[in-house]
Amino acid sequence: MVERLTSNLPALKGRSVVSMMEWTPEEIIQLLNTAQWMKGNRDTVQSRGVLAGKHVALLFELPSTRTRVSFQVAISMLGAEPVWLDWGSSQLGRGESLEDTARVLSRYVDAIVVRAHRHETVQALRRYATVPVFNALTDRAHPFQVLADAMTIREELGGWSGIKLSYLGDGNNMAHSYLVIGAKLGMDITIATPEGYEPLSEIVQWARGEATLTGGSVTITGNPEQAVFGADVVATDVFVSMGDSGDLDRKRELMEAFQINRTRMQLAKPQAIFLHCLPAHRGEEVTADVIDGPQSKVFDQAENRLWVQMAGLAHTLGA
Ligand code: CP
Ligand code: NVA
Repeated sequence: MVERLTSNLPALKGRSVVSMMEWTPEEIIQLLNTAQWMKGNRDTVQSRGVLAGKHVALLFELPSTRTRVSFQVAISMLGAEPVWLDWGSSQLGRGESLEDTARVLSRYVDAIVVRAHRHETVQALRRYATVPVFNALTDRAHPFQVLADAMTIREELGGWSGIKLSYLGDGNNMAHSYLVIGAKLGMDITIATPEGYEPLSEIVQWARGEATLTGGSVTITGNPEQAVFGADVVATDVFVSMGDSGDLDRKRELMEAFQINRTRMQLAKPQAIFLHCLPAHRGEEVTADVIDGPQSKVFDQAENRLWVQMAGLAHTLGA
């Protein structure tokens, strides 16, 4: 398996995952192929222990259920040891610099998984760490989540080319990450948000440029009906993210018009799937009949976090 993991793309060794912008479509597809193979060969993967003897630190500034558990299990299944480090009870919580923290952790562990409110925090850790850094969510990007989503889309719909993915709601980390993965994999990405909550224009511009190379497209709209019409994948996320500030009641009020409900799902293709990174708020961004209905693939999506993270760790840290 080590050969399988490393022979095709040695360029992945030692790489960080901060944003999928930095990975080529071929590298992303290789990672997703490995993830799919691992999912079908769980016992073989576990018995080989390709990362035996390695240690991976997990440093979380924000709450987490899926990311925390799936990374710890992925690390263990590959034979490595997860080292959990709670932000508040580490010296970071008392003001030690990111620079010193990155340098010190690099002397103990083989990689650092970090969840932080500000994207700049993960970029700073990566700058000073001498081991790979994996972004486990920032205000700008959630790369492993959309890798899992891409894996789920291929499992359900057979591929990415020509797939219309429509995301409704806040122009947040998930919206940005769909723009990035969609552009890399040649999907048609539509983001529908209320005015004032659009994704960052620099990411939209970047995605438009990238999509011209892969046959994808990017549409930004304020019209939720138009967005879901003919979609293959309908996605959303919480209206209010971790660390959000400002007038959150007003934000929720504006977002209401972007809820995904049964009527909206009927505008999508009959075989369309529904995705949500979770945690979800039934009755806010999505109705219970949709998220708990037959088109919803949210738990496959959650499971696939495990496999894409295992693939990412194996490719970047493997022998
Ligand atoms: N989707 C996701 O990242 O979930 P957690 O916040 O529970 O990790
Ligand atoms: N946009 C959400 C995603 C949670 C996984 C947040 O940042 O809180």
